[in-house]
Amino acid sequence: MPLSFSSHHPRPPAPAALRRWRRQAAWLMREFAASERDVSIVLVDDAAIAAINEQYRHKTGPTNVLSFAASDGEAFPCQPADELGEIIISLDTAAREAKELGHSLDARMFWLLAHGFLHLLGWDHENSDVEAEAMRAKERELIAQFANNGRYFMPQLAINVDHIATIRQARGGQEPDPVTAAALCELAGAMGIVVHLREDRRHIQERDLRLLRQTVKSKLNLEMGATKEIIAIALEVGPDMVTLVPEKRRELTTEGGLDVVHGKMKLAAVVAQLQDNNIPVSLFIDPEEAQIEAAREIGATFVELHTGKYADTKGQERQHHLAQLEAAAALASRLGLLVNAGHGLDYRNTAAVAAIPEIGELSIGHAIIGRAVFVGLEKAVREMLSIVETAG
Ligand code: PXP
Repeated sequence: MPLSFSSHHPRPPAPAALRRWRRQAAWLMREFAASERDVSIVLVDDAAIAAINEQYRHKTGPTNVLSFAASDGEAFPCQPADELGEIIISLDTAAREAKELGHSLDARMFWLLAHGFLHLLGWDHENSDVEAEAMRAKERELIAQFANNGRYFMPQLAINVDHIATIRQARGGQEPDPVTAAALCELAGAMGIVVHLREDRRHIQERDLRLLRQTVKSKLNLEMGATKEIIAIALEVGPDMVTLVPEKRRELTTEGGLDVVHGKMKLAAVVAQLQDNNIPVSLFIDPEEAQIEAAREIGATFVELHTGKYADTKGQERQHHLAQLEAAAALASRLGLLVNAGHGLDYRNTAAVAAIPEIGELSIGHAIIGRAVFVGLEKAVREMLSIVETAG
């Protein structure tokens, strides 16, 4: 577990706050290219940090943050090489300082985490004025980057418009048009459009794909089976990315993830062919370690974690599938894969998946198009966006 983030404070912070701070820490680790190192972050109260301060630094009283680098032999003997170290933060001092400075607790926590990470990486303001200024400058830079890239901290919402085409195909005419729907989704804030061009053309047609290539401003993600015919179309049209899915003619929708482990040779060739033509590839897989490792072995840029089992279950079973998604997202990110997720997500079950820090994009179709029938497409998109935005 490269990032362990826990609270030992006697009054546990709200789970949503913990998730936000964990997300800040995960962002910092990516920023420092340290996602594969082991870091432990522990939140404590003033009494606990004062005791540690006394024991290890012979200083009296509480402080805001303490970093123990694994490379510092005194504090951490016998640490494995990939261990970066431990950051201990007093939530009491953080809250007090936030109030004094007129900052939010989130902003103060970000600064403390950044400060702690810089110490782990060898920066030390106590060495000299020059180092102190360099460290302050780096902290300012990180804060600015964090603020500017705010949208990266929540997953982006990509909308699958297949089911607009399903309604059109029911009568074989021209309406409703998925190309118009895609434009409305983008106007409402969607950051990507997804379409699945199936072998049987049951919903999306080649005409839709070609027009969408010309009109989509955000990102066009073509979902497809790895067949010769569809690969040729993808290479010709040039979507912004491709998501490879298993496709069975008689299924209602994509039923399971790709078996990358057993289809490695064939999939590796398809991934290489598309990526050699500047089309990044995502593999739609179940949240399983072996599938993730195989996806990385064959050089995929992304994995899309199948959320179907999580979405289709309840109670304990759902929690189990959520834990699997969390572990899978962490592993994939550690291996350098970008992580998307989707299938069966709706207005009730999306928040918990959106809160997984490593997930960069959610692909949602049926629930949004279904709700749009009653409330309109723009409102349906905005409602889902607000769930995603507030999930962290
Ligand atoms: N991701 C993939 C790979 C899919 O096949 C689908 C279904 O087309 C989705 C996401 C979206 O699933 P849903 O329509 O259930 O939101």
